[in-house]
Amino acid sequence: MSFWNTLQKPFFVMAPLADVTDVAFRLLVARCGASDVYWTEFVSADGLYHTREVKKIPDAENPLMRDLLIGSGQRPIVAQIFSSKPDMIAYAAHLVEQLGFDGVDLNMGCPDSSVEKQGAGAALIKTPERAIELITSAQAATRLPVSVKTRVGYSKEILDEWLPALLSARPAAITLHLRTRKEMSLVPARWELMQRAVEIRDRIDARVLLIGNGDVLDLADARAKIEESGCDGAMIGRGMFGNPWIFAGRTSEETPFDDKLDALLSLARDFEALTPPKHFAILKKHIKAFVTGFDGAAELRARLTEANSAEELESIVRAYHIDSTRRRE
Ligand SMILES: Cc1cc2nc3c(=O)[nH]c(=O)nc-3n(C[C@H](O)[C@H](O)[C@H](O)COP(=O)(O)O)c2cc1C
Repeated sequence: MSFWNTLQKPFFVMAPLADVTDVAFRLLVARCGASDVYWTEFVSADGLYHTREVKKIPDAENPLMRDLLIGSGQRPIVAQIFSSKPDMIAYAAHLVEQLGFDGVDLNMGCPDSSVEKQGAGAALIKTPERAIELITSAQAATRLPVSVKTRVGYSKEILDEWLPALLSARPAAITLHLRTRKEMSLVPARWELMQRAVEIRDRIDARVLLIGNGDVLDLADARAKIEESGCDGAMIGRGMFGNPWIFAGRTSEETPFDDKLDALLSLARDFEALTPPKHFAILKKHIKAFVTGFDGAAELRARLTEANSAEELESIVRAYHIDSTRRRE
């Protein structure tokens, strides 16, 4: 039985975020509150095939394989892949199963031009037959449940056509980012569409789980959005920035600043230990998100963004603590 069928509803899951939801960040989330499902960053299926099978680069030196590490406590975990080629999707889906993942997710929503140029990501909304072929190809290549993450349309909302097309291939779950490709993330997510999406799903295949995504602020907000729309779960992306406790129901405002600094340091240590050759600069967005909202935050942030290692981060934080203790005395 697929793990999707064992989840208690409503469920709350982390979004796949490139250069954010790596193995180190997922560990932090697992320690701080636990997402009901973990997601990797998206990984190019074509890239995996070429790096492993054509260039024959050993997995230990293959940066794409670093995106497919599974850390402790991160279960169930889904690997997100993208491609427009059924044989590449089949290759990557099979690989993901061999690596011990619990599910495979197909990206059909990414607006990045380098992804769309390949006919993958959000471009698939314009070629539903190909999208169906990709789902079918993944399903044939693996026993893992296959899910899809997409948007409500390309230039305009086309739920009435797009959702039935996806449902016809019967993926285990569909995550709807409630914006079109054209809207990027520039307008508020259109949660008012989710109720219609649920009606379409119920009419065509009630077994397929529906997850809503976009602008979820915290767990209370997620519960309210799920209750109003009738979907099965909510996916949270940017709400995790600076708040890995979000799945435990904690808001960023109620988290003491010392907890945030500790979280940042443990993330940096795990990042350094687990993800090389990823660049330390990737952590800058976490520094910005964690170090905010208190007197002196801007100054400390500026100093921390200069750091090039976890050790440097720690010594800057130590100096900051000594300075602030002195100021209080
Ligand atoms: C930095 C960043 C990286 C992202 N990377 C991915 C990705 O790898 N795969 C994907 O399906 N969506 C990706 N997204 C989209 C998010 O998963 C999510 O759909 C979007 O941020 C809306 O949810 P939110 O409002 O909760 O952040 C990314 C978004 C951001 C901001």
